[in-house]
Amino acid sequence: MSQFDYLATHSDCSRPGVTRLVFSERDVEARAVLKDWMRQAGLTVREDVMGNTFGRWEGSDSGAGTVMTGSHSDTVVLGGPYDGALGVVGGIAAVNTLRKLGFKPAKSIEAIMFTTEEASRFSIPCLGSQGMTGFLEPEVLDTFKDENGTSFLEAANAVGFSAKTAQEYADKALLKNPGDIAAFVELHIEQGPALEAEGKDIGIVEAIMAPSLVRIKFTGKGGHGGGMPMSYRNDPSLAASELALRIEEAALATGAPETVATVGLWDQQPNIYNAVPRSVLLDIDIRDSDKARRDGVIKKTLDAAEEIAEKRKCGHTKELKFEYPVANCDEKVLTAIQNAADLVGAKSKRMISRAYHDSAFMAQIAPTAMIFVPSKNGLSHHPDEHTAPEDLARGVQVLALTLAQLAGP
Ligand code: GLV
Ligand code: MN
Ligand code: MN
Ligand code: MN
Repeated sequence: MSQFDYLATHSDCSRPGVTRLVFSERDVEARAVLKDWMRQAGLTVREDVMGNTFGRWEGSDSGAGTVMTGSHSDTVVLGGPYDGALGVVGGIAAVNTLRKLGFKPAKSIEAIMFTTEEASRFSIPCLGSQGMTGFLEPEVLDTFKDENGTSFLEAANAVGFSAKTAQEYADKALLKNPGDIAAFVELHIEQGPALEAEGKDIGIVEAIMAPSLVRIKFTGKGGHGGGMPMSYRNDPSLAASELALRIEEAALATGAPETVATVGLWDQQPNIYNAVPRSVLLDIDIRDSDKARRDGVIKKTLDAAEEIAEKRKCGHTKELKFEYPVANCDEKVLTAIQNAADLVGAKSKRMISRAYHDSAFMAQIAPTAMIFVPSKNGLSHHPDEHTAPEDLARGVQVLALTLAQLAGP
């Protein structure tokens, strides 16, 4: 608990929130702390070109492959102390515990910290794990900018990562021997209400929903908020409002609780009380456990944007910024987690992850599954994110016992 508290002090907001965007000063500090904790746990630390960081414990059988565990160290703006941090701090703790108990793994074990799982700075998630697994389109490292117009490439260079081009980052981050990964396991808070509501201790994640980001911009003439009569206006904020309601309707119309759509970012210019806005940019998060169903909502969103822009005589642009597949987890890893949960007497359930994770990409190249622990009131990406200490500890125990089974004596 003191490690989580200490990590949370490396933040650009006051507690209880945590704000640690990738390659900010606070993130660079947190990376140093986590590398230190890896070394103190007896692990050999290496870092790749994008800042993905690996703490390695060599197994007795050098040809048997590697069992990996980990998560991310960055947070959203005004996030909490456990999203990502649990899987990194808990991963190191699980490995450290096995070492202290005298466990001798046949396979090597690595605790990982991935670079920027959150899309908060560059509007695109999981850059580190995408790079490792070959999903990264290099140009996003140049073309996706933060709110100050800085790209990943520039931000990475500024904190000492030395690749000169986006292509060089992508080429060097790609894992050279993906076949060497015997399994990947990620410990994470649920970030939703199911475990708490059902009185379960551990979620065993068998699939991760397919996320996507649609960006729509409406434009209009603007004008004075008093001077301009209603009949003269083509107000893009009204087009955006109408679209938001249409998106809700499209998500509800599937009838599936797994379909979710959120108009999470509104950037209105100008944003003052007495001017008619001239532009509104929307970033829309659309996800589902069924890719075809999700794609249906994306299509309705794009079609509605066009129709509304025409009706309201606004300009508009639309862009599908990213869309990723559903990730299916591996039965062997799921069984190991189930055994571990049973061993500690945890009440467990199989479930899907509604949030995305680095596991979504690792699952495309290696046998993967996730361990969830409850989130109080289902909250995450929120300053009040909380998980009880005994739930955090149980998650680490289940992770340690899972790694032990997968790495073998
Ligand atoms: C990851 O944080 C997500 O938005 O699912
Ligand atoms: Mn998150
Ligand atoms: Mn996370
Ligand atoms: Mn996530």
